[in-house]
Amino acid sequence: MRLHLPIVGDFFRYFTIIRTFVGFEFALLVLLNLASAIVESIGILLFIPFLAQLAPTPANPSNHAHGLFSSFVASWNISIGATLGLLVLVFVLKGVLLFFLIAYRETLLNRTRQKTRDGLIALYSDLDYRYAVQQSSGFYGNLVVAETDRAGLAMEEFCHVVSALITASIFFSIAVFLYSSLSVFMLLGVGLSFVLLRKLSARARLYSIRITSLSGRLNKGLIQTLQAFKYAKATARFSPLRLQLAKISAGTRQTRNKLALVNAALVAVQEPVLVICLACVFYYAVIIGRSHIALVMVAVLFFYRCMIEMGHFNRHWQWLSSYAGALEQVWTVVWEMKQHREGQDGEASADFEDKIELRDVSYVYEVRPILQQINIRICKNTSIAIVGASGAGKTTLVDLLTGVLKPTQGTVYLDNKDLCDVNLFHYRRSIGYVEQETLVFDDTIANNISMQWDQSADPETSARIRQAARSSYCDEFIERLPLGYDTVVGERGVKLSGGQRQRLAIARELFKEPKILILDEATSSLDSQSETYIQQSIERLRGSLTIIIISHRLSTIRNVDYVYVLEQGHIIEQGTFADLSRLPGSAFRQMCELQRVVSS
Ligand SMILES: Nc1ncnc2c1ncn2[C@@H]1O[C@H](COP(=O)(O)OP(=O)(O)OP(=O)(O)O)[C@@H](O)[C@H]1O
Ligand SMILES: [Mg+2]
Repeated sequence: MRLHLPIVGDFFRYFTIIRTFVGFEFALLVLLNLASAIVESIGILLFIPFLAQLAPTPANPSNHAHGLFSSFVASWNISIGATLGLLVLVFVLKGVLLFFLIAYRETLLNRTRQKTRDGLIALYSDLDYRYAVQQSSGFYGNLVVAETDRAGLAMEEFCHVVSALITASIFFSIAVFLYSSLSVFMLLGVGLSFVLLRKLSARARLYSIRITSLSGRLNKGLIQTLQAFKYAKATARFSPLRLQLAKISAGTRQTRNKLALVNAALVAVQEPVLVICLACVFYYAVIIGRSHIALVMVAVLFFYRCMIEMGHFNRHWQWLSSYAGALEQVWTVVWEMKQHREGQDGEASADFEDKIELRDVSYVYEVRPILQQINIRICKNTSIAIVGASGAGKTTLVDLLTGVLKPTQGTVYLDNKDLCDVNLFHYRRSIGYVEQETLVFDDTIANNISMQWDQSADPETSARIRQAARSSYCDEFIERLPLGYDTVVGERGVKLSGGQRQRLAIARELFKEPKILILDEATSSLDSQSETYIQQSIERLRGSLTIIIISHRLSTIRNVDYVYVLEQGHIIEQGTFADLSRLPGSAFRQMCELQRVVSS
């Protein structure tokens, strides 16, 4: 028959998890605990000579501990006053140790919380793009902010559990040594509380896991609702969103209530168990065993302290169980994130001296082919355009160029080196990318352009910010704002128009002074006038950096060196703008005619 010890199993599982977060400094905590318990034991033992002098009745000589007790008392020739002084000294020492123990524990746990949070953020930024887009940002938000804190509480509870176990074991051993027959009652008490604890902690853990999952869902729903604010308001569609959140919120409340009941049951049951055991001990020791009161008192004191520590163990174990869901979630996610790291550490240097090439590149999302047999060559300091219908695969092509997606077949080369072998971090530092969905931070315009939060006021940085703003035709609207470059643009740039947001995003990339500039529908929201200005700016950059433009508006790409036309993942045409637009019957010519870029 296999022995099933769920608490022991869980203890070692939590220990393994917490050790990886806290590190070996955990050992110092254990040592401090041990020292504090030993010092307290010495203090309690000092009560023996003190009580024996108060009630010097002869002990029951048949008991082994009584023999030791008598010789200890006989050899103790320090006065009551001095004994009491020593006792106070020992407890002062215990207080000092306790201070260091608590201070060290809290500092260590705070550091661990911060390390875990920073680690999660670092791991998130290292994630493989394909894996990252499948995850919910609400889930990660909840994990980093709330669950990391709950996991920290679980670690704190675990420290209390270990502390209670160490102290209880020491007190138990001394009590058994002093009065071995008491151990029967102790084991009875410990056994009884374990049975209760086992049932209650299993429930608590279950509720905790449920709360963690509900918090993640609530956060996800909340983020979606906040992002949909304008739409939901304008179309009176807040009710279904609110209803969904209210349901999750109610579920969380119910689960929390159940968890509170389980915790309350444990606290309520603990004291009666302790009192029953103590009553048995006293009855047995004083009435049946007729032992010396000093020995009984000290043994019972150890017994009592042991039971109190077991009570602490129970209570903290219960709380640990109610935070365990968060601890296990954080642990699992950290593990999963490590499995899905991008691996940016290619050895080859990547200065982009010559060209980027896609050779026979195909890309498949799940089972759906998105790009097939793509061959593209982009020479340094030239400009190319990628055009095609919506869903043709243009953004996916850019993702392959930046290395966030890896080709399913074929190879992307950077200066004849496979991009998989190139240090991606180094390579990407030379890329400027205005995404199709404009990225704007809820910060000042200056910080949005520089992304150097603490240096935007620096005169040199400030001059570069203004230069980038002029080149992207931003200065026109920035200077009309009362706070100019210090204007906070609101969440996702809500205080700016669509076109202003796009120009701000272009300014950010120009500030970066990249070697490769990717513009994915970067001017789609601009009026013709602004677009012409930006085009002129980009025109000025031609020859000094490599430009990749994706645009539905063909007027934007009139001046590029080379055009690729994508259709359902295939390159169907390529050539200069002039050649393609003149090619009779070409898809590009038809697109130009539709947009009246060339006359039919
Ligand atoms: N994360 C994803 N998972 C699965 N399929 C995706 C994913 N991202 C894009 N796709 C699919 O890949 C195809 C190409 O998408 P892509 O964004 O490259 O098109 P596009 O040419 O940029 O279109 P648009 O002009 O509308 O921006 C689409 O059919 C799209 O549904
Ligand atoms: Mg796109």
